[in-house]
Amino acid sequence: MAGDRDLHFEVVFDLARKKRTQVSELNEYILSAVEAEIIEAYEGGRTNSSESFIVHMEKPENILTSQIVDGRVFFEENPAHKWSAFPMAMDEMGNVWSLPIAHTLIWGMTGSGKSSPLQSAIIQAIPYVEAGEALLFGSDLKETELLPWDYSTLFEDIAFTADDSMELISMLYEKLLERNKMKRAWLNFGGDGQKADLQRRLPATKQTPMMIFVIDELLSLLLELFQRGAEGKAAMATLAKIMALGRAVGFYVIAATQNVKQEFLGAMRDNFVNVVVLRNAATPNMNDMMLGEGSIERGFDPRKIEESTEANNYKTSGIGYVKGETGDPNLVRFAYSDDDYVSSFVLAHPDEQKMATLQSGQLEQMLAAEVNEGDDINEKLDQLSPIERNDFLEALEVFNLSDREDDGNFTLEELNNQ
Ligand SMILES: Nc1ncnc2c1ncn2[C@@H]1O[C@H](COP(=O)(O)OP(=O)(O)OP(=O)(O)O)[C@@H](O)[C@H]1O
Ligand SMILES: [Mg+2]
Repeated sequence: MAGDRDLHFEVVFDLARKKRTQVSELNEYILSAVEAEIIEAYEGGRTNSSESFIVHMEKPENILTSQIVDGRVFFEENPAHKWSAFPMAMDEMGNVWSLPIAHTLIWGMTGSGKSSPLQSAIIQAIPYVEAGEALLFGSDLKETELLPWDYSTLFEDIAFTADDSMELISMLYEKLLERNKMKRAWLNFGGDGQKADLQRRLPATKQTPMMIFVIDELLSLLLELFQRGAEGKAAMATLAKIMALGRAVGFYVIAATQNVKQEFLGAMRDNFVNVVVLRNAATPNMNDMMLGEGSIERGFDPRKIEESTEANNYKTSGIGYVKGETGDPNLVRFAYSDDDYVSSFVLAHPDEQKMATLQSGQLEQMLAAEVNEGDDINEKLDQLSPIERNDFLEALEVFNLSDREDDGNFTLEELNNQ
C-alpha cells in the first residue's frame, strides 16, 4: 500500500468457516485494540476464505496530502476504456478510482477542489466526444470552470446566464423525449432466434451518444431560476424530469455545488447516483445524508480533512470521499489539471470563430483569473425573506423522488402527456 507501512497496513483474517459478516464485525475490536484512526474493509484483499481490512494508525488523508495527482501524467496513464468507468482519482492504497458515468453531485466548501472532478470528467469524455459517442453541455453562472471550454468545439453549448440555462434545459428535454421515442421503437422482445433487447440502458453510440450536462454552482442556478418566476420554476421541473428520466436514456448530470444548508440539497440527494464529498464544515447529518447513514461515526469524515487555502498551497484540495450506488465511501485525491493542461485541449479543438474574438494572451489570462466569490450562494440564500425561502424550498421539492408514488421514474402515461 502507498505510504508508510507501519502506519497503514493490511490485516487478513482466515474466515475459518465463520460467516463473513461475523468476521467483519472484528473491525471494531481491532480499532480499539491498536488504537487505530480508521479501519476499513478492503475488498481488493478479500478472498473466498479470508476477510481483509486496512488499518490506518494515522489519518489516511496524510498519504493523499503528500502529493498532488498530476492530471497530465494521470490521464495519459489512465485513459477511459469504457464510459461506465472514467478514471479520475487515486485512493490511499495507490489504486485508481473511476467514476461510473451517472448523475453525480460534487459537494464541498469553497477551495475544496470541486473543479478537479468536474474537469476530470470533461477530459475523460473528450475521446468519446471526438468519436461522436458523447455530447457535452454546460451551465456555469460563475463563468469560471467552463469558460475556457466555450472557446473549443468540444462542448455543444454552454450557458453562462440563467436565461440561457433555461433554453438549454428545455432543448435537452426535447432531445430526451425524442430519444425516449426512439427507445420504444427499438424495443425488441426477441424470439425467432433473436436476442431480446429491452433497451434498459442505452449504450453510448453515435446513434445514441451519452449526453453529459456539466453544471458548476448548481444551487446558484436553481436559485436564479426560481427568481425568474413561473418560467424559471418550469425549468427547474424540466431539469428534475431530465434527471428522473435521463438515467435510462443516457442523459447524465454532473453538478458541483458549494456547501449550503441541508434542506436545500435534501430533496435532490436521491437523484444522484454518485456523490463526491470534499472538505466541508457541514453538520454530521448532512454528511451522512450524502455518504450514507452512520458514515461519520465510522470515520468517513470529510469535515476532518485539513483546511485548504492559498496560504497552505491548497494542501488538501481535491481530497474527498466518493460514494457510488453501493458500498462504503472511499477517500481519494482527484487528479489536478492545471491551466496549461486544460488549455491544451481547448487549443487542440479550437472554435476558430470565438478564438478570433480573443486578443492575444486573453485565454491564458482568463484561465489564470482567480474568481473566488467565497460563500456567495449562502449570502444570496441568507438574503431571502422567510417567505421566499419557504417558496424556494417548495420549488426544490420537484426534485424529491421520494414524493413520487413509484420508484422515481416517470410513467409512460406521464411521458405521453408531455
Ligand atoms: N485535485 C487537486 N489537487 C491539487 N490542488 C487542487 C486540486 N483541485 C483544486 N486544486 C487547487 O485548489 C484551488 C481551489 O480549487 P477549486 O477552484 O476547484 O475550488 P472550488 O471547490 O471549486 O471552490 P469554489 O467553491 O470557490 O469555486 C485551485 O485553484 C487549485 O489550485
Ligand atoms: Mg469552483
